Amino acid sequence: MQRIVHTSHGEPAEVLRLEALSDAPPLASGTALVRVSAAPVHPGDLLGVSASPAFGSAPLIPRGGRVPGVESVGVVEALAADVAPSHRVQVGTRVAVFPVNGAWSSMIAAPVHSLLPVPDEVSDEVAAQMLVNTLTARLALRAGHNALPEDRRKDVTVIQTAANSAVGKLLTHLLIEVGVNPILLAGSAASGQALKAARPDLPVIVTESQSWKDELRDALANKSVYVAFDGVGGPLLSDVAGFLARGGAIISYGSLGGATTDIRSIAPQALTIKGVSLFSWQFEAATVREADLAKALELARNFPSLFPVAGRYQGGDYLGAIEHANRRGKTGMVLLAFQDHVAYAM
Ligand SMILES: NC(=O)c1ccc[n+]([C@@H]2O[C@H](COP(=O)([O-])OP(=O)(O)OC[C@H]3O[C@@H](n4cnc5c(N)ncnc54)[C@H](OP(=O)(O)O)[C@@H]3O)[C@@H](O)[C@H]2O)c1
Repeated sequence: MQRIVHTSHGEPAEVLRLEALSDAPPLASGTALVRVSAAPVHPGDLLGVSASPAFGSAPLIPRGGRVPGVESVGVVEALAADVAPSHRVQVGTRVAVFPVNGAWSSMIAAPVHSLLPVPDEVSDEVAAQMLVNTLTARLALRAGHNALPEDRRKDVTVIQTAANSAVGKLLTHLLIEVGVNPILLAGSAASGQALKAARPDLPVIVTESQSWKDELRDALANKSVYVAFDGVGGPLLSDVAGFLARGGAIISYGSLGGATTDIRSIAPQALTIKGVSLFSWQFEAATVREADLAKALELARNFPSLFPVAGRYQGGDYLGAIEHANRRGKTGMVLLAFQDHVAYAM
């Protein structure tokens, strides 16, 4: 089997390497062995490799190395002996896997409760990326709803940064579904063009333009905005904070820009910055998690264009995949695949 591994934290292109192993991972109690078809390169995967503060605590590197990746799609090859035969996943079932440690691998042993059967009409390319980003967008949506003052929940306008990111596009879809009017901010002209083509009905503003703040002011037309969703951080977050009404909130779900933020304007405007982390998702109520998974499947089935692929790379070309994942103006996820047709003794 093949896997992409690192034994120290650092620049992903410098510390990662492709490794070939002759054995499949052992099948621990309650797990299934999944032959991986595709796994996305999430910005968070790269932040974990470099131990960026934007990842949280630096992830531990076990003896033998750490394999990044938290989701994938593949086919179940074997089940641990203690997995009940009635379990919804059987040998041969195609599954989306989340959460799992070490998705950038041709074979993974994943807890069966992390496996979601994938309907035939959902492609591998969509299934590989349908969970992390949709669940993050759902968490952000709930946080935004909770941050809205009770008397401001009608005719709501919000600001969204990183609107052409994979999470951003899903969040826009969810906002529109619940009747909210998003104003979309893109960083680069290329992303702005892509958004205008995909969402001709919505205001799109490109923040690399000198006049973006004037354009945003015009788009707001004196409406009070209580919530902004931000995936970029840095100076953009404090600039966007300046457009919020007193008592408003920024729902921060990412730091694409990699820079720190000046929060001096937060107190005078009585603003809140609420962080959203997918690590918290597992602590949501079971009914909420079920609803989130059902929504991810519904979007994957009915709106596959919400899950575009920017590029596909074999595991051996992980450097190309990393470079592409970091490109500005990119639309869609970069996927890793592995050429591994070896039959392993179970
Ligand atoms: N909180 C969580 O648990 C969680 C879970 C998943 C993802 N996230 C975060 O959500 C954010 C979006 O993730 P994603 O997978 O949707 O991203 P993505 O699709 O890879 O985002 C691509 C877009 O990000 C923008 N971008 C890239 N580098 C940038 C930079 N230096 N400054 C400003 N914008 C930049 C570019 O848009 P422009 O061309 O418009 O600049 C690019 O088109 C990331 O910060 C990620 O870490 C958080």
